[in-house]
Amino acid sequence: MGSSHSPEVRRRDLLGLSAAMAGGLPLAACGGSASLVEAGASPPPSGSAAQEQEVPVTPPEDLMREHGVLKRILLIYREGIRRIEGGEPLPAQPLNAGARIIRGFIQDYHEHLEEQYVFPRLREAGKLTDTVSVLLLQHQRGRVLTDHILRATGASATPQTRARRELVTAMAAFIRMYEPHEAREDTVVFPVFRDVVPAREFLRLGETFEDEEHRRFGQSGFTGVVGQVADIEKALGIYDLARFTPRV
Ligand SMILES: [Fe+2]
Ligand SMILES: [Fe+2]
Repeated sequence: MGSSHSPEVRRRDLLGLSAAMAGGLPLAACGGSASLVEAGASPPPSGSAAQEQEVPVTPPEDLMREHGVLKRILLIYREGIRRIEGGEPLPAQPLNAGARIIRGFIQDYHEHLEEQYVFPRLREAGKLTDTVSVLLLQHQRGRVLTDHILRATGASATPQTRARRELVTAMAAFIRMYEPHEAREDTVVFPVFRDVVPAREFLRLGETFEDEEHRRFGQSGFTGVVGQVADIEKALGIYDLARFTPRV
């Protein structure tokens, strides 16, 4: 998942970077326009052209932003659990909206990218093969749990005591699995992925991810999905960040 910028702008930026690399610029200089200047490349043009020049979003950054969305849905599920266990009414609609983002954005898109572009490269390189097997199984189990959460919060759901308990069990299992899942990917899987993929292909993959994002989610892309998550948080009263600051 990349920025909200248009694919055209981003493609142009990548082409500029590729040209710089072809001119002998070391990979370490690809961290941003400031690094390009330090490495002896031409300084960015002034005026509006300079404003258009952007640092490309790399595949791990893309995937880690998507993990941020996943984490926010886990917090939505946790609020659902808190309310159900406290005897409050079941917030079925917000939970269902969260589960639909998990299905459409995390499972059908983010995990699809991992399974198509990240895990195969690790397996080819003989790296983290056992970890990848576990992650793949967890993607499958996550789908089963999401099916359950969608059913239990759908329009035809009957919020009986037993059904509420089963929904809590499914959301708790989902949280328990995905917290370590995404943390392992962020700290181990993506850094190794970065090590095994050549620089040019790495940049091209960033472009592929960006194009796929806009094909699936339209021009607003990642930003639009984050907006949907914020709306659910507002409906549940957990959007205000300051609310979580402890008094000391
Ligand atoms: Fe994953
Ligand atoms: Fe992931």
